[in-house]
Amino acid sequence: MPVIRFVREGRDLECYPGENLREVALREGVELYGLKGKLGNCGGCGQCITCFVDVVPTGSAAPLSPPTAVEERKLRGRPATWRLACQSLVEHSLLVVTRPQAGLQDRDSLVEGALARPLPTGPTAWPEPPEAEEPPSDSAEPAAAGAAAGTEAPPTATSGEDAPEPPERR
Ligand code: FES
Repeated sequence: MPVIRFVREGRDLECYPGENLREVALREGVELYGLKGKLGNCGGCGQCITCFVDVVPTGSAAPLSPPTAVEERKLRGRPATWRLACQSLVEHSLLVVTRPQAGLQDRDSLVEGALARPLPTGPTAWPEPPEAEEPPSDSAEPAAAGAAAGTEAPPTATSGEDAPEPPERR
């Protein structure tokens, strides 16, 4: 069901319930990091505090998993709506502003526009895994089994036509 509306980028991305917000953004090419994070981030373990997002309140159910202990410690003194994307699992549709520390021109009007559009319904279930491939047909199995065991079939007898010519005598 969740759809993540990225306000800065003007994009809606579907994901599955419980997906990690950072992983969805990276997979879909949404830039989460400012210069410092681009030069070196912790890879999603909550140590570099460069993957901030600002979650726009919509008045509906909590869209992300509760803040982790790491976030409680690392985000002390930051706005209450900020989260670390790498620590956040998406549970419901939401609006986020990436890189809130960088500011965003016309933020209020962009957020207002994003809030005015209803969030589409995303996927409701995880996709089914693809069908397993069919095993090879029976006709190929004996030769393959013999080759695997090092017991190749003996060469077949050759007819007179196919037999090599004997060397000429002088
Ligand atoms: S990627 Fe380092 S804190 Fe999120």
